[in-house]
Amino acid sequence: MVTATADSDPAIEPTRQLTTLSGWRHFTRDQPLTPDLLPHSDWIALNDEARCRYDEPRIDYHTRLTVVATSTVKAVAQKGRRLTLLNRHAVSARRGMILSGAAGTGKTTAITQFGKMHEVADRQRHPHRSDRIPVLYVTVPPAATPRMLAAEFARFLGLPVTQRANLTDIIEAVCGVCCDTGTSVVICDELHNISLATRAGAEVSDTLKYFSERIPATFVYVGINVQREGLFTGTRGEQIAGRHTLIHTVGFPDTDDWRGVVASLEHTLRLHNHQPGTLTDLARYLHHRTGGMIGSLSALIREAALDAILTGTEKITRSRLDAIDLDHAAHTKSR
Ligand SMILES: Nc1ncnc2c1ncn2[C@@H]1O[C@H](COP(=O)(O)OP(=O)(O)OP(=O)(O)O)[C@@H](O)[C@H]1O
Ligand SMILES: [Mg+2]
Repeated sequence: MVTATADSDPAIEPTRQLTTLSGWRHFTRDQPLTPDLLPHSDWIALNDEARCRYDEPRIDYHTRLTVVATSTVKAVAQKGRRLTLLNRHAVSARRGMILSGAAGTGKTTAITQFGKMHEVADRQRHPHRSDRIPVLYVTVPPAATPRMLAAEFARFLGLPVTQRANLTDIIEAVCGVCCDTGTSVVICDELHNISLATRAGAEVSDTLKYFSERIPATFVYVGINVQREGLFTGTRGEQIAGRHTLIHTVGFPDTDDWRGVVASLEHTLRLHNHQPGTLTDLARYLHHRTGGMIGSLSALIREAALDAILTGTEKITRSRLDAIDLDHAAHTKSR
């Protein structure tokens, strides 16, 4: 029978926001349960009420994201681990990483998985310390000013930012807390919101650079095609380029790698009548539908799985996949 802990009950689950310490901690500690399927005869014998109770955790399970160890996830984890080790004793010119690529290519997923891995390792190294904040995750707000960016750092840490606090006050408070709590990885996502071509963008980038000098951590920058925004041009850009490894994320070509991702996602399904291998056999069709974008693939398969449970067919077929409308980008590509 399916078991569910209080933690997996959507009704009482705390709001998930990675950009606050409590949301981030929840994410790093979260270990979703995989529901077991009842034997066929027991499943057939369920009455309506029991079936509802049985289906609910399976529905919840299929709405969640199961992370596949794609080449991007592996590359980011490996590089991130090496950089954090290299930077452990560095007092200046620490090296960092930039994750850049088209929208929906799995940048945030890969970097947050690395952050989670790093935080779990830190917890194991310091089992008796509950006051450590090894990872800080912020997103750059649209049209950001240096103060707005600094306030995002403060918000993650739960530091109050009063109206009167100026940029220096906020930076001092943030750097103080990061140093005291052993912050060793700082992730700045949505970096494309900074354009170095504008004055405000250049000032925000300077603020980031200042943070990276003051906080003894490995900085990771993540955004959509950030090199096109001028991140590596000019004097400031040259300095960034000289210290950061660029990892490029792209959509999957229609190769064995893609089949592997489809197979991994298919393997996570918990449906009663699904024939294993159906989706792998449809790998080319799925590539055509999604343009090789893992985000679109995951959305398509999860929606089809929900449809299979809600309609009682308990399997995913080509015709059911055909009936699902995908995101606009995937739709345009497949045409
Ligand atoms: N490794 C993975 N395993 C399973 N699903 C994934 C993986 N990577 C990405 N996805 C799926 O793709 C969706 C988009 O991924 P993600 O948000 O990481 O992309 P992104 O490159 O950060 O996009 P954006 O540029 O819009 O911020 C996720 O919601 C998830 O469903
Ligand atoms: Mg993202």
